[in-house]
Amino acid sequence: MTIEFTKRDQEIVAQTFASMTEDIDRAAAIFYKKFFASQPEAEALFAQADMHAQGRKLLKFFEAIVSSMPYIKQKQPDISELAHMHNRFGVKPEYLPEFGAALIETLREFMGRYEFTPEVEDTWMKVYAWVSEIMKDEMSGAE
Ligand code: HEM
Repeated sequence: MTIEFTKRDQEIVAQTFASMTEDIDRAAAIFYKKFFASQPEAEALFAQADMHAQGRKLLKFFEAIVSSMPYIKQKQPDISELAHMHNRFGVKPEYLPEFGAALIETLREFMGRYEFTPEVEDTWMKVYAWVSEIMKDEMSGAE
């Protein structure tokens, strides 16, 4: 999948994500609360997980994406590898849209109504669409 992020996209994403990484544990807790509320059956997959560590891993992963945006294509192998891991965890690609929605809603909550403008939302949707498309392709090819 081809992708290009403008300088403006990069600025928006870096600035808005910073508000979450400054308060990483609370952001992760809010994210999983939202995700499990919209996708209750997904919670069982995390039965063995240390959710504190998991939340940090998730946000650190996005942090790495955000800081790699000028050369984002180089992140593709990491995302593919992550997708293969998710096959082993039993994650289905059908969960990906709700996962993205929970991410966007968490950002919205962190940012506040006025700062999370439609432009910010569109930019994040573009980022998540790219990541989740790679995840989905690799997950559908699961054996
Ligand atoms: C773009 C979407 C996603 C990203 C970036 C992502 C990211 C991650 C990361 C970084 C880890 C830690 C892997 C490690 O231990 O090194 C992880 C683990 C995990 N993820 Fe995801 N994830 C995504 C979507 C999903 C979805 C949709 C589900 C569905 C339920 C899910 C369920 C899990 C589970 C069950 C684990 C393992 C938890 C454990 O037992 O330790 N993930 N994910």
